[in-house]
Amino acid sequence: MSYILKELTLKNGDHLILRRPTVEDAEDMVEYLNIVGGESDNLLFGKDEFHLTAEQEREYIKNVNSNPNVLMILATINDDIVSIAQISSPNRKRIAHNSEIAISVKKEHWKKGVGSAVMEALIHHAKKQGTIKNISLGVKASNIKAVKMYEKFGFTKVGVHKNYFNINGDFDDEIIMDLYI
Ligand SMILES: CC(C)(COP(=O)(O)OP(=O)(O)OC[C@H]1O[C@@H](n2cnc3c(N)ncnc32)[C@H](O)[C@@H]1OP(=O)(O)O)[C@@H](O)C(=O)NCCC(=O)NCCS
Repeated sequence: MSYILKELTLKNGDHLILRRPTVEDAEDMVEYLNIVGGESDNLLFGKDEFHLTAEQEREYIKNVNSNPNVLMILATINDDIVSIAQISSPNRKRIAHNSEIAISVKKEHWKKGVGSAVMEALIHHAKKQGTIKNISLGVKASNIKAVKMYEKFGFTKVGVHKNYFNINGDFDDEIIMDLYI
């Protein structure tokens, strides 16, 4: 299995590497997720609310890398993790052609094209994987820039989960978006 998925130069000159995670990444990934959780109110967890230990994260990485229905992508600049994303499909064959994605980018690297590069890699994977026909995602209604990014890649709004998010007592809807491939 190839760990490097893609390398590219961003518009500011940074060298971006997209690759699968390895168990050696576990501690950095837990640290990354606890930081990005606090950088926006747009993820399913806040600052220091990502509760896996490094050992549990190592097990998670092993499971992900041995599961053909999941691709986790780590994006790095100068060996620092700047984005983590995942696309996964269910095992049940009646619904195995559907997939879901999740993505985050570290705040200091927003607006450089990292999110777009990772989205492109996720969609490329879905297309070449062969059986995937639909990519779905959920996004907080007020997360306009993420909605814009998904629309740029052809996702359309297909539904709403009312008051899905509760950010310290402030409720917001979740918009469901699909891309049929
Ligand atoms: C949403 C997020 C992933 C975008 O990552 P990014 O690396 O900044 O994305 P890019 O620089 O590649 O920009 C991608 C597109 O997003 C949109 N976008 C990004 N920032 C924007 C802004 N400030 N205003 C409007 N649109 C914006 C644009 O469509 C942009 O494409 P363009 O530059 O070709 O116009 C990132 O902001 C993030 O991680 N946010 C916090 C977590 C999160 O919201 N995750 C998604 C949960 S559903």
